[in-house]
Amino acid sequence: MNARPHDALANLLNHARTQAGKIKILPNENGVEIQLLEAQLGFQHSFISGALPVRARQTTQALLKACNNKQRNIKTMLDLTAGWGFDGFTLAWHGQQVTLLEQNVLVHAIVACSLDRLQADPEKAAVADRLSIKNTNANSYLQSKDSNLVYDCIYLDPMFPRSKSGAKPAKEMQILQALTANIEIDSCFELALQKARRRVVVKRPARAALLSALKPDLVYREKTVRFDVYLTR
Ligand SMILES: C[S@@+](CC[C@H](N)C(=O)[O-])C[C@H]1O[C@@H](n2cnc3c(N)ncnc32)[C@H](O)[C@@H]1O
Repeated sequence: MNARPHDALANLLNHARTQAGKIKILPNENGVEIQLLEAQLGFQHSFISGALPVRARQTTQALLKACNNKQRNIKTMLDLTAGWGFDGFTLAWHGQQVTLLEQNVLVHAIVACSLDRLQADPEKAAVADRLSIKNTNANSYLQSKDSNLVYDCIYLDPMFPRSKSGAKPAKEMQILQALTANIEIDSCFELALQKARRRVVVKRPARAALLSALKPDLVYREKTVRFDVYLTR
């Protein structure tokens, strides 16, 4: 289901009600403030204000190299694991047309609401026009007739396993871990390899095992993460 823009806020408040006691959702003019009550963790989800729009502008990111944005060969992206949409937003900021898929209803509703806010910002509406989000399981989507739509690159960022060192991820990711799970990731990966026109990109912790033990054609590294690239033609 793809919420129509004016439904996004009502949809979010509806889903937030089902989680009352666990999570507090406070929509505002920039996006959505989220508070995970028991863990006492919170953050402002926004595509307009805060760290994300600043970080997204950086042109040296391995994410952009892996998705080949610079050469503009890859114009359309399907992000199978949207989460908060941080990676998808970054790619859209740099000119790609990005379709985000998110299986969790509440996370989808939060991102859809923040996308509305982005759309309403006259300076950034062009980025919003390149981003859309659907509330669906990527595995079903890839098998549905919708997936006849061809994407140059399919992107997969499954939830990372807990670090052996005990180091905690950023609070945004801790909240996502508390709310969501990895669903049928191996099957999504297999279908992505069949469907992507040019490449599949998988984000992994820097030292994690390969997804499905499949060796990538290219790897782009940062300090804590790497991007495994599988060329499909
Ligand atoms: C690590 S997060 C992605 C973070 C994202 N790259 C970002 O920049 O915010 C993984 C997300 O994938 C979603 N997910 C896991 N399996 C999925 C599936 N089969 N279909 C759709 N979403 C899925 C989870 O609900 C979670 O929100």
